[in-house]
Amino acid sequence: MAFSPRAWLDERLDLAPVREFVEHKSVPIHRHSHWYYLGGMTLFLFVVQAMTGILLLLYYQPSEANAFESVRFIMTQVRFGWLIRSIHGWSGNLLIALAFAHMFSTFFLKSYRKPRELTWVSGMLLLFLMFAFGFSGYLLPWNTLSYFATMVGTNIAGAVPGLGPFALRFLRGGDAVTGATLTRFFGFHVAILPAVIGPVLLLHLLLIQRQGMSVPLSVEEECRAKGTAPPSIRFFPDFLLRELMGWYLALAVLAGLAALVPWELGVKADPFAPAPPGIQPEWYFLFMFQTLKYIPATIFGFDGEVLGILAFGVGGLMVLLVPFLDRAAAKGMRSKIVKRAGVIVVIYILTMTTVAYVANLAR
Ligand code: HEM
Repeated sequence: MAFSPRAWLDERLDLAPVREFVEHKSVPIHRHSHWYYLGGMTLFLFVVQAMTGILLLLYYQPSEANAFESVRFIMTQVRFGWLIRSIHGWSGNLLIALAFAHMFSTFFLKSYRKPRELTWVSGMLLLFLMFAFGFSGYLLPWNTLSYFATMVGTNIAGAVPGLGPFALRFLRGGDAVTGATLTRFFGFHVAILPAVIGPVLLLHLLLIQRQGMSVPLSVEEECRAKGTAPPSIRFFPDFLLRELMGWYLALAVLAGLAALVPWELGVKADPFAPAPPGIQPEWYFLFMFQTLKYIPATIFGFDGEVLGILAFGVGGLMVLLVPFLDRAAAKGMRSKIVKRAGVIVVIYILTMTTVAYVANLAR
């Protein structure tokens, strides 16, 4: 009898339940289904990030003396090193932009309502972890911009009441941003954060597999009125092939940016030099950074910056707990207040980010 690898594996692993799952998995198709592609595109960029990060590790040296030079070596001596670094830099930013878009799409479609509360919470944790990846990775080339942005960012963390002084020393590995901070950030970026994000991502994906994709309330209502179920297509191969088009689009944008606008290296950090004007954090922190600038130094006798940081903390917590705060959605109803709050947040983030950019350009 001819050897069959499938039969060989089946005898040992009993893959029948997996086959059954794949054959029966389906995805609802309706006028909002295109939003389903955003999660897959984010996942694709996450894989790109992990692969290019591993390649960069082959040459990067995490010390105050060698970090900048090792990145310059990657950019100028290692074959295609500039491209790998450029892909890593751009993909990290596109990944966060897509994760934001994915978050807002699931927010406005109310995909977080029962039974998907934990999918939302795990997604928010993923977004926070992405911010931490961005913040820790930014310092690694040890250039002027990253050095001073880390100083500003860690100062803000240090202003948190109670926890602040501990957070500042924990992040910096001392009182100032030094080589010890660089080594620490390297540890966060390549060991601690990947070890934490792995299980959270796995949980997010397992929940989605277990529960399937949600159907928006409006589509559900229409189908109920017609007495029909929402139409769906098979995941394998029909939806997967469409999903691949999303990945292909993400790859095209990424390749174009990485090749045509290579990620810059800048000038080596000099801790004794004065901070250059217009130091800003990465774009995804800008709306908070700009807001803190507008807050008066004291409000009713309290430190304005501290109040601003606390307000952002409370805001972040509310977004994390949206599925439990939006009681109407849990009952299958649409709340105008939640939708309007979401629209205001989007407009606020876009406006503040633009204002910060324009203010920096005009400098
Ligand atoms: C690294 C970041 C993330 C990855 C890789 C990821 C991946 C995915 C994937 C592949 C899906 C299924 C397809 C889709 O609905 O788009 C999904 C669904 C979902 N994600 Fe994420 N996600 C991430 C971040 C987030 C964030 C920040 C949130 C919001 C807080 C979130 C909330 C959800 C929800 C609620 C669903 C279920 C959608 C539904 O059933 O209709 N995810 N995610």
